[in-house]
Amino acid sequence: MNIDRNITAIEDLRVLARRRVPRMFYDYVDCGSWSEATYRANSSDLSNWEFRQRVAVNIEGRSTAATLLGGPVTMPLALSPAGLAGMQCADGEIFAARAALAFGVPFTLSTMSVCSIEDVAEATRRPFWFQLYMMKDRTFMGDLIDRAKAAGCSALVLTLDLQVQGQRHKDIKNGLSTPPRLTLANMVNLLTKPRWCWGMLRTKRRTFGNIVGHAPDIDDTSSMALWVSEQFDQALDWDAVDWVKARWGGKLILKGIMDPEDARRAMASGADAIVVSNHGGRQLDGAPSSIRALPAIIDAVGSHLEVHFDSGVRSGQDVFRALALGARGVHIGRAYMYGLGALGEDGVARCLRIINKELDLTMALCGVRTIEEITRDTIIPRN
Ligand SMILES: Cc1cc2nc3c(=O)[nH]c(=O)nc-3n(C[C@H](O)[C@H](O)[C@H](O)COP(=O)(O)O)c2cc1C
Repeated sequence: MNIDRNITAIEDLRVLARRRVPRMFYDYVDCGSWSEATYRANSSDLSNWEFRQRVAVNIEGRSTAATLLGGPVTMPLALSPAGLAGMQCADGEIFAARAALAFGVPFTLSTMSVCSIEDVAEATRRPFWFQLYMMKDRTFMGDLIDRAKAAGCSALVLTLDLQVQGQRHKDIKNGLSTPPRLTLANMVNLLTKPRWCWGMLRTKRRTFGNIVGHAPDIDDTSSMALWVSEQFDQALDWDAVDWVKARWGGKLILKGIMDPEDARRAMASGADAIVVSNHGGRQLDGAPSSIRALPAIIDAVGSHLEVHFDSGVRSGQDVFRALALGARGVHIGRAYMYGLGALGEDGVARCLRIINKELDLTMALCGVRTIEEITRDTIIPRN
């Protein structure tokens, strides 16, 4: 296949990933919870915002450069934390981190990653962000935070919207586990994914790297759903957020805010940024799309802290839309996961180049030269 000619959009990466990634791990990415209504609405509501096309504006010397949390970035975008990225392709988190850092945007490593904090730190030797889930065992939590500090992580992303897991039918039906169980159905499917199998045979990283060997008295970590139900702390409240903040002592981003009241509470907690996110439609099915939630949250707290946005972004046009509605940074999840599954590190690099080029061209056709000029009056709601 001629990659340069055939991979021109994120959708192309998705189609190639579906061919190359074992079914249970592809489905794990390409699904939402329950009826998947919120999952679908995330993208369709974004596309309901149209652009104001402008002409005869000098658009020479455009730049997508910006700052996120005080650091320079090539564009105001970050890679979202995603569990099991290392099952889209072997060593997936290392590849994604390398591609992001080379491009000049932050990478966020999930608590539920395959490659560990230490693996990624050693492979990149550059600061990345670490995402934390609140678990019951405070000693383990403290150790995890200390490990992120020791690895030089430059921000901690505390996820607040997954103390219980939204049901994803496909994961149950596929018997999602890490590594996959060698059932007849899985083995037949794996036979059709030779590149993936070859990669997995060559790596030693095939389970939850931040947990296995670190959490005490854990006998079965292969099922993420089981781990979440047993270990995640349903007592998580704002006092627990304060505890994490004090223990971490660095830049803190609170992820999963969908309500202005929670945004105000997050601001009062002293967080540096929030991510308006419904977890990519994987948690509360029936919640509004993330882009519908964004404007009210910007009104509530946008002038006091950095408001970032995710869920549904599949193009540079979507990045533009979220910025126009007030987001300071935009995070992508599935877009880069498809890149990983399709082409590994090169796939993530391509994903970033595609989105950057789309953002730049959209800016040009809207008569905008800088990220700061992408304001609310550059887009129009579709009737
Ligand atoms: C396969 C997958 C795994 C995810 N794992 C995590 C995770 O471990 N921690 C977390 O905070 N969010 C996780 N998320 C949510 C993402 O961080 C992000 O909010 C979401 O993907 C954004 O939506 P998008 O995929 O439409 O861009 C995951 C999302 C996907 C698709």
